[in-house]
This record gives sequence, structure tokens and C-alpha cells, in this order.
Amino acid sequence: MNPFYITGIIPPAYFCDRKTETDWLVRTITNQANVLLTSPRRMGKTQLIRHFYERPEIKGHYHTFYVDIYPTTSLHEFVLFLSKEIYSVLVPKGKAVLDGFLSVLRSLTGSFTYDPVSGVPSFDVKLGDIQAPELTLGEIFDYLEKADLPCIFAIDEFQQIDRYPEKNVEAILRSHVQTMNNCRFIFAGSNRHILENMFHSAAKPFYNSTEQLYLDRIAREKYVAFICAKFREAGREILSGAAQLAYDLFDGHTYYVHNLLHHVFATVAPEKKVDENDVLFVLEALLEEKSHAFAGQLSQLNYGQKETLVAIAKAGKATGVTSVAFIKKNALKSPSSVQYAISTLLDSKILTYEQEGRAKTYSLEDRFLEMWVRRVY
Ligand SMILES: Nc1ncnc2c1ncn2[C@@H]1O[C@H](COP(=O)(O)OP(=O)(O)OP(=O)(O)O)[C@@H](O)[C@H]1O
Ligand SMILES: [Mg+2]
Repeated sequence: MNPFYITGIIPPAYFCDRKTETDWLVRTITNQANVLLTSPRRMGKTQLIRHFYERPEIKGHYHTFYVDIYPTTSLHEFVLFLSKEIYSVLVPKGKAVLDGFLSVLRSLTGSFTYDPVSGVPSFDVKLGDIQAPELTLGEIFDYLEKADLPCIFAIDEFQQIDRYPEKNVEAILRSHVQTMNNCRFIFAGSNRHILENMFHSAAKPFYNSTEQLYLDRIAREKYVAFICAKFREAGREILSGAAQLAYDLFDGHTYYVHNLLHHVFATVAPEKKVDENDVLFVLEALLEEKSHAFAGQLSQLNYGQKETLVAIAKAGKATGVTSVAFIKKNALKSPSSVQYAISTLLDSKILTYEQEGRAKTYSLEDRFLEMWVRRVY
């Protein structure tokens, strides 16, 4: 069994650190506040929420819901995702609890059935069934407000609502959230810029309505200690220098460090003490394995996009990308061509950026791709 989980729910014994953050969440949520949770992509937001739900102060004391609205592009879908999540959390809690929900969700009653023979419930709601999303949303919040236990609802990739064609979604949600006593919300997402704009600008409905947690990398010494301990517990050994190298290669970016270690654990012979060379060897193999997909991804780009991408990959974190210095150093065409390429690369989620004041720092979203590009070009 591999102690470095790269999919699914991580059992507490295999969950690395995040003690301060989890404690903070417990304190903040039990004190009735709502939370805005942001981090760069793949730093561990989703896993942190799931881990928090398992804490003894929470589990069994709250109904806990989690929905990732990344795929949604309209209020209809938002409502569909929320109702499906509530349904699936309540099913195992028995007919009485489920009926409590169904009786409030009047606008969708037609979509619920109990199998007449087995009594197994089913909820087959289609997008077209949600004819008045605002009404159904009101019913959902009504239910959460009246539920037999207090509720925590995590809405992941919340920045997505900014893209819905319905323009008043933020205001509608805010008006519900504001008046609820029985339900706390965690709004999470990786688009820090959109989210902070939603929650920190005075003109916006969600202004000042949450406590914020910014999830950064796990501290190096804690991560390294965790890595060494997990090898030891499995009756194996890794040099702490090798664990440090795995961390440093990706700047402690959780998903990538974990992914690399997962493969190190899986491929290095169990009796061998893992050293730096093993880590580098496994990394090469991983990049090799991904190279076909990466090449395919790059083949979709035109020349201008490609040369901009390569320049940013080489810089790692690129600032002043339209400055004469950057253009010259990387033999790019012009500030406007770079600007244009960047906007396409951002749209296709190949690039990402951080913003401080007016300055933007660009980097590749996928650190494996970044490494691969650096090697190939
Ligand atoms: N505390 C942790 N302990 C062990 N592994 C972790 C931890 N946090 C994150 N991971 C690893 O990193 C991966 C990514 O974590 P997660 O999906 O929570 O990130 P995210 O910030 O939600 O990403 P995204 O931005 O893509 O939604 C996990 O699948 C797991 O392999
Ligand atoms: Mg996530």
C-alpha cells in the first residue's frame, strides 16, 4: 500500500500536517463565521476541507457538504449541484432525514422517487426540471436552515459564479447566506484574484462577509519529517536529503511533491535506501511518461504562444513580461504579441498569475509541464 495518496480521500494517518489550518477552521466555523479559503492550484484546499470534516469536533455534530462547481456555467447547474450533494449526503442517514429534505424541496418533488419494492430512494433531476432556479435555491437554503443538525457547506471553485450569465447571483447568494443561523459556508477556490475581488471590494455583495484563510505550502521540515516517517512505518528508508530534494524540486507544492513521492515509493526497490539519484531518476521517468501528452498540448499552440510559454517556463516566475528587457532577453516579437499570447494561454489554463498591486507574475500552471518545457527547449 502506498502511503502517498494522489487520489481520493486521504486517511488521517497519511495526511501531512495542516494542523494550524485545521485548528483555525474548527475554531472559526464553530464560532459561526463563514470562511474564504484560497490557495494556488493543487496546494491542498480540497483535501484540507475533507480533513477538517473528519475532525471529532465536526464529524457527527454537523451535516457536512462539499460541492465542486468548477464544471458549472449557470445558476441552474449551481442549484442542481447543490441539491444533488445534499441528497447524496442525506441518503445514508435514513428515510426520516431524507424526507425532511424532500418535503422542503417542493419545486423538485417530481424528481424524487422511492422504489416501490426495495424502498431505495432515487433523485433523478435534470437541468430542464429546474425551471425557477432562484426558487429552488431558496428551498435549499430553507432546508439547511431547518435541518436537524447544524450544517457546513463548502463550495469549491466558487470563482466560477462570476462567469454565470445571470448577473445577480452574488447578491442572491449573499442575501441567503447573511440570514442563516444554522449553516456555515466555506467558499474555496484557486483564482485568488477573482475571489479577493468578490470578497474584498466594498461595492460587492460579499464584502467583508468572511474570515480568510490563504493556504500556502507545507513547511519544509514538517513535510520532510512526514516523508521519512511514512517510509519508516512501511519498513523502508529514504535519506532526508532525498526527501528535501523532492520538496525543493517543486518548491513544496503539495500535489507535485506528493506525486513524485508516490512514484518513488512505487518504483524504487523496497530494500533500497532511497537517495537523491533515485528521486531524480523517478522524476525523469515521470516526465518521459508525460512527454507525449505535453507534446500534444504544445502542438495546439501557434508560434507566438509557444515562444512566450517557453520564455515564462525558463523564467519560472516571470514579471515584467512586456518590458523591453524581457522581450529582448527572450528574443520575443513585441509587447503586444506577448500580451496577446498570454491572454490566450491564460484562457486555456496553461498559464496562471499572481497579482501584487498592478504587477503580475506569470508562471505555468502545471509544474511538470514547466520542467518538461525547460528541458525540451
Ligand atoms: N495535507 C496533505 N497531505 C498529503 N497529501 C496532500 C495534502 N494536501 C494535498 N495533498 C496532495 O495534493 C493533492 C492535491 O490536493 P487538493 O486536491 O486538495 O488540492 P487543491 O488545492 O484542491 O487543488 P485544485 O486547485 O486542483 O482544486 C492531493 O491529491 C494529495 O495528493
Ligand atoms: Mg480542489
